[in-house]
Amino acid sequence: MNKNLRIALVTGATGFIGSHLVLRLMRAGWQVHIVRRANSRIAYAYELSDVKTHTHDGTTEGMIRLVGDVQPEVVFHLASLFLSQHEASDVERLVASNVLFGNQLLEAMKVHGINRLINTGTSWQHYENKAYSPVNLYAATKQAFESLLHYYVEAHGLRAITLKLSDTYGPQDPRPKLMNLLKRVAEDMQPLAMSPGEQWIDLVHVDDVAQAYLTAAERVLADTVQGHECYAVSSGQPIQLREMVRLVEGVLGRSLPIKWGGRAYRNREVMQAWEGTVLPGWSAQVNLAQSIQTMFTDLNLR
Ligand SMILES: NC(=O)c1ccc[n+]([C@@H]2O[C@H](COP(=O)([O-])OP(=O)(O)OC[C@H]3O[C@@H](n4cnc5c(N)ncnc54)[C@H](OP(=O)(O)O)[C@@H]3O)[C@@H](O)[C@H]2O)c1
Repeated sequence: MNKNLRIALVTGATGFIGSHLVLRLMRAGWQVHIVRRANSRIAYAYELSDVKTHTHDGTTEGMIRLVGDVQPEVVFHLASLFLSQHEASDVERLVASNVLFGNQLLEAMKVHGINRLINTGTSWQHYENKAYSPVNLYAATKQAFESLLHYYVEAHGLRAITLKLSDTYGPQDPRPKLMNLLKRVAEDMQPLAMSPGEQWIDLVHVDDVAQAYLTAAERVLADTVQGHECYAVSSGQPIQLREMVRLVEGVLGRSLPIKWGGRAYRNREVMQAWEGTVLPGWSAQVNLAQSIQTMFTDLNLR
């Protein structure tokens, strides 16, 4: 197959990881098509003019038309709604984003005989390193989608790899996650109440995550994947939250006003990193300490 003619369809392409993946796919010579919603925010890591954009109207018929127009060799499914905790009013949108949307995609792939999928799961499907124990409803919806996927794999010959991601970080991250929180504290030096900080976190740089999708795509294109394979995208070097903050403080050359134990651990706080089988042929390359050095030396500190 001519690598330059490979066609990718990416969902969640306006998100943090999806937008980095789109860039990486383009650089690797893929023709990239993205699925977005009518009200999607504009992607920030690439120009929309560089990709072929398809707006999903929310219906299964619309998804079938869309996938038929694109005829992708590989579908990269990243779209998801993440909520660490949910309210009753979140149930419908969690199921709509994490189950219904994905099912529409699988059905459309079946209709058009498109049979290679890279799906996105989460290490939070494996609370306390169990085979299946969801940390929260978000993780349970990821598992629900995998159950649906199982049907399409067995009954319709889909070949799929689910990449289960842990924590991620990197440039142009709009999410209010750990790195951005620490940057804010470093800049305004306002006290921040945190948990006791003894949890082990597994941080993978977004460039490494994007590479994992490409490695998985090569694997599924080589036709060695029979059925559904699941792999961890793990740094292999978990670090305790307190130690990670110490690294940041070392780069900044000063202590941060963090009140350790100022808030309790959450219900089902993830204390240990999931030790799943890592994607063959892939390993994390970006060094966390060096990344922290880069990210925190450029801050505009008072
Ligand atoms: N980031 C992490 O640390 C992490 C950890 C574990 C797993 N993951 C998984 O990795 C994937 C990417 O994560 P991320 O952090 O890049 O997510 P993100 O920045 O929150 O982006 C989510 C993406 O999903 C799209 N989306 C949500 N609901 C949709 C729907 N109903 N229909 C179509 N598109 C929809 C959003 O599109 P709009 O522009 O329309 O909102 C957006 O492009 C997700 O599957 C997530 O669960 C991430």
